[in-house]
Amino acid sequence: MKKAFLAPSILSADFSHLSESIKKIEIGKGDWVHIDIMDGHFVPNITFGPMVVQAIRPFTSLFFDVHLMIDNPNLFFDDFAKAGADAITFHYENVIHHHRYIQQIKALGLKAGIRIVPSTPVSVLESILPYVDLVLVMTVNPGFGGQSAIPECFDKVVELKKIAKEKNFSYLVSVDGGINKETLPSAISAGSDVIVSGSSFFSGTLGWE
Ligand code: DX5
Ligand code: ZN
Repeated sequence: MKKAFLAPSILSADFSHLSESIKKIEIGKGDWVHIDIMDGHFVPNITFGPMVVQAIRPFTSLFFDVHLMIDNPNLFFDDFAKAGADAITFHYENVIHHHRYIQQIKALGLKAGIRIVPSTPVSVLESILPYVDLVLVMTVNPGFGGQSAIPECFDKVVELKKIAKEKNFSYLVSVDGGINKETLPSAISAGSDVIVSGSSFFSGTLGWE
């Protein structure tokens, strides 16, 4: 039986053959497609925007999990919704109006999620947790694939699952960054609902049976 959803990140895909990479995700039993959007400001790397999301949308009906690593993420909610996103998650750290943005994403008919980088504690999310569909624990500092997970971050998953149980919240908890064969057991035993995997999935070293 599956223990978590697998969300391969196309950050590690072959950008010259993205439609084939999407097929690989389907063949590899990926549940979601994780899509990393970087602006070169919030994180020191640049990827792509809504046009690329729109271009790959016809190749699959899998759930599109859009991870915004950009300043002023609200300016792009509408564009990513039109491009075919199913969920949009933004970071806690560079935003002031968290509730407003969650409302805006939900008003577009999408799932809304909040993310925290490794140095941000779960406690800052207290007032936001009742309103989100997804909580994303970054297990690396965002910006690049292929980094090593910071093991202490898995404790935050345990904490978030405990809060959800106690308060009857329905959000899913996802981990993102450095998940491979070695770290997957920690992610699963912490209670992660969604496993994002970039380099390990596309190098063929992590997959679901
Ligand atoms: C990092 C991204 C991740 C990345 C994960 O900023 O948010 O989604 O693609 O890649 P791996 O699994 O290689 O750490
Ligand atoms: Zn990501």
